[in-house]
Amino acid sequence: MASTPRRSSLVAILAALLAAVLLPLSTLSAHGADTPLRTLASADGRQIGVAVADNRLTGSTAYSSLVSGQFNSVTAENAMKWDAVEPSQGNLNWAAADRLVAFARANGQVVRGHTLAWHSQVPGWITNGGFGAAQLRTLLQQHIATEAGRYAGKVYAWDVVNEAFNDNGTRRSSIWQDNLGDGWIADSLTWAHQADPAAKLYINDYSIEGVNAKSTALYDLVKSLKQQGVPIDGIGFQAHLVLGQVPSDLKANLQRFADLGVDVAITELDVRMQTPSNATTLASQAEDYRKVITACRAVARCVGVTVWGLDDADSWVPGVFSGYGAATLYDENLQAKPAWAAVAAAFGGSTASPSPSGSGSGSPSSSASPSPSAPPSSSPSSSPLPGGCTVAYRIANQWTGGFTADVTVTNKGTSAIGPWQVGWQFGAGQQVTQGWSAVFTQSGSAVTAANPSWATSLAPGASYGFGFNGSWGTSNPVPASFTLNGTVCTTA
Ligand code: G3I
Repeated sequence: MASTPRRSSLVAILAALLAAVLLPLSTLSAHGADTPLRTLASADGRQIGVAVADNRLTGSTAYSSLVSGQFNSVTAENAMKWDAVEPSQGNLNWAAADRLVAFARANGQVVRGHTLAWHSQVPGWITNGGFGAAQLRTLLQQHIATEAGRYAGKVYAWDVVNEAFNDNGTRRSSIWQDNLGDGWIADSLTWAHQADPAAKLYINDYSIEGVNAKSTALYDLVKSLKQQGVPIDGIGFQAHLVLGQVPSDLKANLQRFADLGVDVAITELDVRMQTPSNATTLASQAEDYRKVITACRAVARCVGVTVWGLDDADSWVPGVFSGYGAATLYDENLQAKPAWAAVAAAFGGSTASPSPSGSGSGSPSSSASPSPSAPPSSSPSSSPLPGGCTVAYRIANQWTGGFTADVTVTNKGTSAIGPWQVGWQFGAGQQVTQGWSAVFTQSGSAVTAANPSWATSLAPGASYGFGFNGSWGTSNPVPASFTLNGTVCTTA
């Protein structure tokens, strides 16, 4: 049962104080206690996301303003799953999914698409349809082509394959595994790539946060997919955690996957506990959230963290784990919990407790502008770079009023460059609305993308990629030239 607002706020404040004591001093910074999480994460070149429930998005302004104000990435909790978008064969219902994509675009957020091929939430017309293996393969291919194709250019990443393994590392029995065989994973990734070549394609799973039989089986699969040239760009670690049980090898595990050449992301974070919560358990939960954010920040290819549900009233946990709950960053009254302050602190914000509402929400328009941003730790040198540099700027996707661009900078010299910043001028009034993997600032038409804290140096010969969503008006020309620390680069 929900506690009263007053009692809940008091508990939150007490626990925030306790959490602040537990948090290391190194996380203190100049950011205010109400700085939105998205501002802090963007300044770190990372995503902070939330799973969004369609009925809450449409039904509660308080909910939707926290989603837009606090997060720079959104995932549909259910609205993009197959049973939601095709409840009966050929009857396609995109209303809720379209709503979220439009909301994200209006608020300068990226969308993580969830999910294309999963054993659960497969519509009944398929599970009960008596289809043979060849028909099922065609249906899955068509579904992926249709959904990933519909949102091509609008979805940053897809959880193409969800939950394909058992805890012992064997393949999970499912309609896809049992009928299509082991190849369904590679096939699904390939079909998704054909439908949306620019989207980052993920395999997503739970209980893979530490090194164990399940994560190692997935690791072996990713290695093999990479060797075969199958399009796999990232691994999603769901991280549905139990209080006090963040695996101690989380960072090492994320890193071993990153070392295979894929991005990693925490995609469904929550930390459940026995309810009712109290100040001590909420403080422990804050510490768990801090550990997860810190582990992600310690891995260069960890693109960010998504929490699974905005608030405790909205979480899947109590319905599945009886007696457990209180797993998210906000309580049932949308009051920020100590975990909120811990996430903020772990991203470099203040460790002071948030304001009572904890929203720090900011207006959508202000939050959509590029992050006010942490400057690089020291100023980039503007002396000419001896070996030069190249910059490749590619418009990955474009739609009316918006676009996604990927930028790759390469150090062609023989010495490392760092800290670094890439600069360019937009020629037609374009604006960066949301960036990733670099720290963006824009003043008029001049844009700089500076190194994030975790990639301060560009080694000789090394390339580094980052990207952003932007807005455009009458035209969207590619910038005429680019600089790296003031030196004009060759355009690749
Ligand atoms: O839409 C129907 C509605 O028509 C019906 O009246 C109602 C009656 O129960 O059910 C509604 O469907 C529910 C659906 O959520 C949408 O609200 C399902 O019963 C319910 O089981 C479903 O739960 C979702 C669950 O995935 C399904 O497996 C949770 O909200 C969602 O948080 C959860 O998310 C999963 C991720 O996708 C994958 N990783 C694990 C994570 C947590 O289980």
